[in-house]
Amino acid sequence: MKTTISQVGKYVDQEVTIGAWLANKRSSGKIAFLQLRDGTGFIQGVVVKAEVGEDLFATAKNLTQESSLYVKGHVRADERAPSGYELTVTGVEVIHEAVDYPITPKEHGTEFLMDHRHLWLRSKRQYAIMKVRNEIIRATYEFFNEQGFVKVDPPILTGSSAEGTTNLFHTKYFDEDAYLSQSGQLYMEAAAMALGKVFSFGPTFRAEKSKTRRHLIEFWMIEPEMAFVEHEESLQIQEQYVSYVVQSVLKNCKLELQTLNRDTEKLEKIVAPFPRISYDDAIKFLQEKGHDIKWGEDFGAPDETAIAESYEKPVFITNYPAEIKAFYMKPDPNREDVVLCADLIAPEGYGEIIGGSQRIDDLELLQQRYDEHNLSEEAYKWYMDLRRYGSVPHSGFGLGLERTVAWLCGVEHVRETIPFPRLLNRLYP
Ligand code: 4AD
Ligand code: MG
Repeated sequence: MKTTISQVGKYVDQEVTIGAWLANKRSSGKIAFLQLRDGTGFIQGVVVKAEVGEDLFATAKNLTQESSLYVKGHVRADERAPSGYELTVTGVEVIHEAVDYPITPKEHGTEFLMDHRHLWLRSKRQYAIMKVRNEIIRATYEFFNEQGFVKVDPPILTGSSAEGTTNLFHTKYFDEDAYLSQSGQLYMEAAAMALGKVFSFGPTFRAEKSKTRRHLIEFWMIEPEMAFVEHEESLQIQEQYVSYVVQSVLKNCKLELQTLNRDTEKLEKIVAPFPRISYDDAIKFLQEKGHDIKWGEDFGAPDETAIAESYEKPVFITNYPAEIKAFYMKPDPNREDVVLCADLIAPEGYGEIIGGSQRIDDLELLQQRYDEHNLSEEAYKWYMDLRRYGSVPHSGFGLGLERTVAWLCGVEHVRETIPFPRLLNRLYP
């Protein structure tokens, strides 16, 4: 029976054939252990010389790392195996022999691994990270579909900026100037006025010169936008969404989290509601801890980490000064100098995973903001129409997928959380 590693449990004590690659191998004169992977999982194949005979044993013993194979064997339940099964090998057919696979079981430096990212993805650790990433995406669609959101796809090529003009990726659009999208938000606001509650999932681009473990040049964002939803209700949806994703990963990625040595007890505590602290109080807290920061300044990574350390769950920092936030955020009606916004900071030092806000719904205030932010009104004419024809209170947010993957997997750097990372000095492979 032809099957896959993830399905072998259906064929205990039967003979199966799987297409697989040789991830690793150990052998003595009498027995060989083949670590096999097929993209659905990992399993150990055991080749016993006394059972399979000289020829097959010699073939097995000489197999090279990452050669592709059809392996035939009897499925045995084995409690000690992480997957719960082992394969007693009865046949091996080499499809393609790999010679001198560059990534050996020994330690390699980061730059070497990054240069071989197209192969590095095959490793058990990278496999586990990609599976968690996939589960976050799957749970995202499930959550928002259940809540009645419609998936909408904003454009990638745009004529306007959502998040300030300093890190725009410029390109030509025939004779016009264009930019790669920093955020689908402005278009999602238009979509929310047509479809009520919407969400997007797509790539976004920021020409950020920052070389940190949290910044990618190209990253993927989930951006929900909701008509008739004010700031407080938006925060509740955010905490429910994040809790849903974390609990889904815990439930559906047990083996992967084990491969990654993730402390799952910490993740089990991630259930709504989440704590909140105002920007004002966060500044006071940091000053008392001796951080060099004044009201009106944005937080750096060490500031965020210090705040997050006080909580076991992600924490919302709310109501930032208007002057350090994007032009579209609605001022607090009780205090014009701060806006109705929140950043959600992940625990354990993984940084800001969500930025969100209630949006300005008043046309005149929006026009004033273009002047203050030196934005040309011309590019936003269509966006102003949303405030001209049936403007409503509305809110939305953006969750950075890669930082969320980093947090849930417990990996230090976002370069491992996306298949082919685009970094300040890296466009290859
Ligand atoms: O806080 P940001 O810039 O918010 C927006 O773009 C809003 N327009 C979203 C919205 O309201 N619809 O980005 C949102 C999130 C951040 O919290 C962070 O998780 C992630 O996107 N992010 C990055 N992730 C990796 N590399 C970068 N360079 C990132 N910049 C932002
Ligand atoms: Mg932000």
